[in-house]
This record gives sequence, structure tokens and C-alpha cells, in this order.
Amino acid sequence: MKVFETISETTTFLKENKEKGKSIGFVPTMGALHEGHLELMRRAKRENDILVVSIFVNPIQFNNPEDLKKYPRHTEKDKTLLESVNCDVLFFPSEQEMYPEKVTKVYNFGELDKVMEGANRPGHFNGVAIVVSKLFDITIPDKSYFGEKDFQQLAIIKKLVKMEDTPVSIIPCPIVRENDGLAMSSRNQRLTDYQRKLAPEIYKSLKMAKEKSRTMSPAQLKTMIKNYYDDITGLDLEYFEVADDEYLQPVMSWDEKAGIMAFIVINAGKIRLIDNIRII
Ligand code: PAJ
Repeated sequence: MKVFETISETTTFLKENKEKGKSIGFVPTMGALHEGHLELMRRAKRENDILVVSIFVNPIQFNNPEDLKKYPRHTEKDKTLLESVNCDVLFFPSEQEMYPEKVTKVYNFGELDKVMEGANRPGHFNGVAIVVSKLFDITIPDKSYFGEKDFQQLAIIKKLVKMEDTPVSIIPCPIVRENDGLAMSSRNQRLTDYQRKLAPEIYKSLKMAKEKSRTMSPAQLKTMIKNYYDDITGLDLEYFEVADDEYLQPVMSWDEKAGIMAFIVINAGKIRLIDNIRII
């Protein structure tokens, strides 16, 4: 595996390969890799000649400085995992390399970043879009892989490439879960044993919402989920939303739209856990 810390080395190497007719599959990450990330990489490797992964803890997408400071960083372990999936290129830039100057760009995603994660984490998606747009310029991928765990992020990236006319296919990948249903996340490592034991309730509650959607309205589901978490000390519901799968706008009834999802954010102490499930 080649490890590049500079933009110029990365782009030069990848351009040369592209000119030879090789296809590039790209998986952007912030490191602290787990099986969820590795599944994206295995697929990218299968579907392309060259697998490129980036590890960059992007400061401008964190609206909580403590979250940025505490974000897990284990580069050596990550490199071993990358070797295990036969990664060809790791792009591992410094903050200075990515942002030599202060970034000021502001995207307009319309309604898409006004709801859920966008409403609850101001500036977050703008920071994600800036870094991903820059990473696409650097890695010139044919296909780029994103997890449905961050479903709204995926919708933002799809919109970004449309807005910027970027010649890349965005490939959505299903959520990878622990055996007990908890969606894999770098943040799970920060849970206490007690919080970790409680955390599978999140997926359990989503499955219950899906099951009850046969007889309950979206509004009734929201009340049910609120009551569910009122009874669990240690897991605080930040939001539960029922929304369409393209614009992520709230839906009031099941026949309103074709694709409908339920989205949840739970705070276990200071750790924010996100998950979703397809209802229809
Ligand atoms: P990060 O949280 O490291 O996630 C990198 C990719 O892995 C994202 O596409 C995310 O959705 C996916 N992923 C994480 N956990 C997953 C799981 N359990 N199942 C399936 N996919 C999973 O998302 C980011 O980094 C950043 O915002 C980034 C796009 C790199 C921009 O900085």
C-alpha cells in the first residue's frame, strides 16, 4: 500500500493510473476503522482496479470542539486493517495540507441540510461537502462509497455531485451492525460498559417502529418512541423523525411518498449515536 501525505503525490499517481485505463474506487473516512468502513472498502476493491482510502479527521465538520478533540485516532492499527483489504493507496493529509487557508465556501443544499443532522449540527454538512469535494478533486474517483448509516450525509453528497457536475458515481452501502444490532461506529468505543449494554435498544426501537408502522401513523410512532426512551435511564432521545428518502422531509402519512425512512439520534451521556431504518 502506498501512503501519501501530499495532494500532489496522490493526484500524480492516480492520474497516471487513470491514463492507463485503471478505474478508481474511493472511500473517504476519518479513521478509527471498523468493519463498517471495511465493508465499503471490500466492495470498492471488488468493483474497481484501484482502491483509494482517505483518513482525515476533518475539523470543519465538527461543531463540538470536545467531539473533535476526543475523536479516536489509531493510525497504525488503521494501516494494518487497510492492508487486510488490499488497499492500494492511503491518502493521509495534515490539516495544513488540506486547508492551507481558512475555508469560507458556503453551499446551498436547500431544505436538505435544514432538517435532522443539519438542524442539530449547524455547519456540519457544509464542512462535509467542502472536504468531500476537495477529496474528489484529489483522488479523481470513478466510484465513491458511502454508508447508509449516515443517510443524510449520503443525500448531501449525491446533491453535491449533481451541483458540481462531478463525474463520479456515488454508491450507497448498507449499515453494518454488531451481532446485537448496534450500528458500528467509531464512537462506540467511547461508551462505558453500561452504555454499551443499553445501546442495542436503539436498533430494537427502530425495528419496533417499523413493525408498528402497519397500524400507527408517523405521529403516533413518534409518541411511542418518545415514551420508550422516557423509560430508559442512560439513553436520551435527541430526535426521532419519519421522512422521505430523497429530500428527507417529514411525512405525515404512509401513502404520501414511496420511500420512507425512520431516523434516530440518541445521546448516551456525551456520546451521540445515530441510526436509521427503512420503513417503506
Ligand atoms: P466516517 O465516520 O469515518 O465514515 C466513513 C464512511 O463509513 C461513511 O460513508 C460512513 O457512512 C461509513 N460508515 C460508518 N459506519 C458504518 C456502518 N456501521 N455501516 C456502513 N457504513 C458505515 O462519514 C465520515 O467519516 C466523514 O463525514 C467523511 C465522509 C469522511 C467526510 O469527512
